[in-house]
Amino acid sequence: MKKPVSRILIINDEKLILKEFIKGLNAAAKSIENPLGLIFSGVTTAQEALQSIEQDGDIQAVVVDDTLYTLKNHDQKARNLQMTALELVQKISHFRPELNIYILIAQEKEDEVVDALFSETVDGYFYREERDYRGMYRILNAQLQEKTRTPFYDQLKNYVFMAKDAWHTPGHSSGDSLRDSPWVGDFYEFIGENIFRADLSVSVPTLDSLMEPTGVIAEAQKVAAHAFGARQTYFATNGTSTANKVIFQTLLAPGDKLILDRNCHKSIHHGVVLSGAHPVYLNSSVNKKFNIYGPVSKKTLYQAIEEHSDAQALILTSCTYDGLRYDLPPIIQAAHSEGIKVIIDEAWYGFARFHPDFRPTALEAGADYATQSTHKVLSAFSQSSMIHVNDPDFNEHLFRENFNMHTSTSPQYSMIASLDVARKQIMLEGYKLLSRTLELAKELRIQINATGVFQVLELPDLLPDEIKHDNIQLDPTKVTVDISRCSFTIEELIQELFERFNIQVEKSTFNTLTLLLTIGTTRSKVSRLYDALMRIARENRSPRRLYQTTEIPVFTELEYLPRDAFYCNGELVPLLNEEEIINSSLIGRICADQITPYPPGIPVLVPGQIISQEIIQYLISMLRSQKRIEIHGIVYDGYLPCLRLLTATEERNLVKLN
Ligand SMILES: Cc1ncc(COP(=O)(O)O)c(C=O)c1O
Repeated sequence: MKKPVSRILIINDEKLILKEFIKGLNAAAKSIENPLGLIFSGVTTAQEALQSIEQDGDIQAVVVDDTLYTLKNHDQKARNLQMTALELVQKISHFRPELNIYILIAQEKEDEVVDALFSETVDGYFYREERDYRGMYRILNAQLQEKTRTPFYDQLKNYVFMAKDAWHTPGHSSGDSLRDSPWVGDFYEFIGENIFRADLSVSVPTLDSLMEPTGVIAEAQKVAAHAFGARQTYFATNGTSTANKVIFQTLLAPGDKLILDRNCHKSIHHGVVLSGAHPVYLNSSVNKKFNIYGPVSKKTLYQAIEEHSDAQALILTSCTYDGLRYDLPPIIQAAHSEGIKVIIDEAWYGFARFHPDFRPTALEAGADYATQSTHKVLSAFSQSSMIHVNDPDFNEHLFRENFNMHTSTSPQYSMIASLDVARKQIMLEGYKLLSRTLELAKELRIQINATGVFQVLELPDLLPDEIKHDNIQLDPTKVTVDISRCSFTIEELIQELFERFNIQVEKSTFNTLTLLLTIGTTRSKVSRLYDALMRIARENRSPRRLYQTTEIPVFTELEYLPRDAFYCNGELVPLLNEEEIINSSLIGRICADQITPYPPGIPVLVPGQIISQEIIQYLISMLRSQKRIEIHGIVYDGYLPCLRLLTATEERNLVKLN
């Protein structure tokens, strides 16, 4: 493993003193153990300091001298002041909140300095005249060590090295059941010894319990909360799909209103059924040219908040799969002014806190809850997610009950460890890695456009008219490419990239391809992708037209609560009759399931919703499409595609919503 470098920046305009400090601190670092590679360097102005913090991702802490940046600007004439210590501290912690900040007090009135910085995130103070370099080094080093700790992972590793005999689950018993097997020993070898050794269970009390954490899991969650700016953080081992459901069941009693985007992830629709909530669906904006469904317009959102001020919660996805990010602060403020709790599904945005280009995060914008698929965009194993809570009225007991209801009593410990490690990484090198990812995203965009055939869709291309003035931002690490000028259909292109060039992409629509850059994207991968696209482009095949798809039909009335409709037995009714003609008897009936064609992945029907002719026609056109489309929720009776509908008796027994 490479040795880390931890640069500590000293900011002081008195060159001699600065030199003395750097010399003294570096000498201390050399003579005392220095596993984190602390190196001290200095600058004499605030501007240089901010520049260094922006350019040098290895900076882990700053030491600000308060005489230069005096808090009250007393000596303005005598000193070349640029900003006060307070302003500088605020700027640094706004730009990179993960940095440790220390103040070097030179004034006599240290109480004044401490008071003025009281509300800021200052990690410590040193009195300049003491010149206690070794003492300073020890404190800076110890606090950085604290940040590098991964409480759960450390304990897991220690436990594995203790090599205790396992008389408990899992049945593979540290891999011993597989290791010497002539039939399945290859699996042991392929997956790796430590995966099995670290696959432990609640039978090991020193590893704490995900369901009632009081030890190393509690500690790991606490450090994560601090890193992500939350009051509380919970590790979820069933993905954000479960995280969303846990929050719903905590906040929503049956019949409580929830405002949601129709284009939200299916876990949210499932959460509506499970919680028994009364959903208020909002129409997503749609980019008709590329058939991309985007954020709900601000106008629609404000209207819904006003009309449904009795709603308990609002949930939005930010950023979306395509990287579109809401202007959250005013929306959250509007919801809060009506007492509506705000949940933001940040499944695709778990890294955002660690680079200013991506902020504000949902929590920074005032959200009560944020769910993040740490595994989608950071270094955690699949299914490892985090739930961050900032709700001032948080009911911890209720949340815990719901969390436990959805959590396996045998969680995968490597996943918990990976959340711990992902947090450590993004805190210590996130800024550096994200800066590189942004750079690669920029280069990739230029290269793709240089093919002359493939074109990256930028914010103005992606935004439909209705949200053009909503201050929506684009996360540049999601790259959506218009492929309509290459001769391939999307399926052919995906296959070509996969089979000929060994490239697997993230997702597609009929005319676009979405590439996901993460902190794991390398320059080599970018070059290989560019090479592949350039080769395909140079083959000079004749372009095809933009593939036109039908827009999803408007949302019809919701007649019953989705949960009530879903739990009916219902009856299966075919979409087409035997002559392959639309079955018009479906019109006006109530669907018991959620029907979602993928792509675009937006439900055209949810349980409890009235079926219209337009909806049936849409479903049939999807079934007859040349492109293979999955339609989740359709049931086949032999070859006949059917919908599960409420029977007349079931309808009579249910309470109507309106
Ligand atoms: C917006 C959104 N929310 C939630 C999820 C579910 O996340 P997970 O895969 O972590 O369960 C996804 C998954 O694709 C998603 O796109």
